[in-house]
Order: sequence, then C-alpha cells, then structure tokens
Amino acid sequence: MALNNASQTLVNESLDRQVSFLQTWKPQALSSEATTFPAEMYTSSKVYQLEKERIFGKTWYYVGHSSQLQGPNSYFTVEIAEQPLVILQNQVGELRGFFNICTHRAGPVALGSGKCNRLTCLYHAWSFDLEGNLRGIPDMETALDFDLASHALTTVKVDTWGPFIFANLDPNCRPLAEQLGELPEMFKRYRLSEWARIHSVDYWTNTNWKLYVENNTENYHEPSVHPILAKYYQKIKADARHYYYLQYTPYLTDSDGINSSPKTGINIEGLNEYEMDGVSTMSFFPNFAWILGPNVAIIYLIDPQGVARTRVRWDWLVPNTEAAKSPENLDPLIEFFDNIQQEDLKLLPEIQKRIQSFGYRPGRLSPTREVGTHLFQELIVQHIKG
Ligand code: FES
Ligand SMILES: [Fe+2]
Repeated sequence: MALNNASQTLVNESLDRQVSFLQTWKPQALSSEATTFPAEMYTSSKVYQLEKERIFGKTWYYVGHSSQLQGPNSYFTVEIAEQPLVILQNQVGELRGFFNICTHRAGPVALGSGKCNRLTCLYHAWSFDLEGNLRGIPDMETALDFDLASHALTTVKVDTWGPFIFANLDPNCRPLAEQLGELPEMFKRYRLSEWARIHSVDYWTNTNWKLYVENNTENYHEPSVHPILAKYYQKIKADARHYYYLQYTPYLTDSDGINSSPKTGINIEGLNEYEMDGVSTMSFFPNFAWILGPNVAIIYLIDPQGVARTRVRWDWLVPNTEAAKSPENLDPLIEFFDNIQQEDLKLLPEIQKRIQSFGYRPGRLSPTREVGTHLFQELIVQHIKG
C-alpha cells in the first residue's frame, strides 16, 4: 500500500516489538492448546494500527455491493478501517477505486454516492477524471512547473466476486481469486448476481472488530445467546480452511419456526437438495460474511472504526421475484434475524469490557465448536507478523 516505504517499515517493526504477544506467538493446535487472544489484541492501539496496515492494507476486503453503482459515471464512497475510498464505474462502465483524498490538501473528492463526469474536490474544486487524472486546477496559473501527472489520485485495486466488490490497497497484491479459493465454485448455483438488494442496515457496537468476527465464526454460543436457534444446534456442520469458515444448518422438518423450510415459489432456482434444505453461514477473511438460504441472503460488511468501535452493515438480498420481495416473505425474516443480531450486539460489548478488565485471561477454545474462531485468529496473527 501507499505507506509501504522504508520509513514506514521501520515504524511497523518497532510497533511489532511493542506488542509482547506478537513476539512470542506460535501457531496453536486447536485440540491441545489453542486459546483466545490476550487482552492487548483487543485493546491496543498499536495492534489496531498494525491490523489496518497489514490486514486491511494487504488483503482483499469487502467494500460494497454492485447495486450501489448505477452504471457508467456512477460512484459510491466508503471508509472501511478508516480508509476513505471512492469506488466508481468509469465512462465505459469499468470498475475503478481510488483513495478519496485530494492531492492538493486532502479534501474529499466525493461524498455519499451518485453520478458524475468528474470527481471535484469539495475544498478548492480541483477536479479529476474517472481514471483519477487531475484535469482542473482553478487559480493555479502562476504555480511554476506544476506537474498535473504527479497529482493524480492514488489508485486502489478493485475486483468482484459476483455482485460483491472487494478492494486491496496493496499494488503488489495477489489476485482476489486466490484469496477466495473454492468459494465461487462452492456457491455458484445460488447465482447471487441475479438477486435483488432490498434492504440495508448499519449496526454499531462498542466492540473490537475481531470480537464480532470471532463470534460470527463459531456456533458454540448459539443455544445460549439465541434460544430460538437451540433446536438446530446438534444438526450444525462446520468447517474452516484457507480464508473461510463454513457452517451449514439444515431446516427442521417438524419446525414451524421462521427458519423452517421456505415455501415454494420464492426460492432461487437451480439449487441442489442440500442447498434447498438449509442455511449456509460463511465468513471470509477479513471482513465479509453471509447467511444464505434459498430465499434470502444477509451480506455482512464488518468495518473497524476504532480499537473498540465497529460498524456492521447488513445488506439483504432476495431472488428477484415479486414473491421473494413481498412483505410476506421478508418481514418475518427481517424480524427473526434482526433479533438474533441484537442478541449478539447486546453481549459483545460486555465481552469487550471484561477483556479490558484486570481480571481477564485467555481461555481454551472448543475443538469442535470454535474451528472458525481458531482459523481467523491464526490468520490475523500471520498477517500482522507478515
Ligand atoms: S484540498 Fe482539494 S482542491 Fe484543495
Ligand atoms: Fe450469534
């Protein structure tokens, strides 16, 4: 990424040395020794800075859904992990990403979302074309040797998996496909590009972002935090490998709950029996996740906004049919899953508070129920250590 010069490397190395856990860390076997992180991993501004640089500065992370763009000349802005970006489609509809930082004195070149032929800075109105080149500089005629080319916006890599847009701040990064591994093949029958985004909501929590991710990569807490899910607990299948956690919860045939098998006519067509008969939960390192059934998908964007502050965006997708978009299908689903989210968000700040206490010490992980938490913890340290 842009910070990755010699002086920044020195700063990072010295940050490393200040975090004692990172100096002594070794991979831990889940069955015999793996524990949760020590407190400093959730409370230290140094760790958070390293995560911003080495996880969100080096890996592909989720920035938004393609329906946030409206074709050529459209854009949206995001500030995930506190990095202001503008994502856009250029004049021929190709995807582009830039730091949303004017090369004059750091003004924003776009706000919110919309359509434009140029990105015009809100501060002194320098304007940039949709390839990031500086084109307009009011009242700069007397500036000697002004080099337009060296004042282009800083480019950010962008790529897609179906309708999902990912960014990578590292110009030398490996392709998104490598990080995705088997995921596109595994979920191709859902044809998620054809689904409609019909509802979005932002949740905020006074929690380190990793606590939210860890909670999302295990099913151990489900029966106690979400009593409505308790009846599914023994049926869950879970796996964690490469950059992802996978969980499958089959519908119960004798259940009259909202999570029981959806009615015909609202499902995406072409799924196999296994996909028709249950809900897949997936988390993709570092900040993307979903709950995916045949008639509904909740897409998670997990956005660190401070050591103990996290935004979680939920985008709701349904098959693009009137029946699937109808309130009869949607309203009970929104109520059901929002309740589950609220149960998690009620508990997580309590965990953050206790980790910040003098009384906290790491505890052992469940070898069967916390496989995803273990994988994500290992990935986090591997990336921070580089
Ligand atoms: S900061 Fe953008 S034009 Fe001055
Ligand atoms: Fe939960």
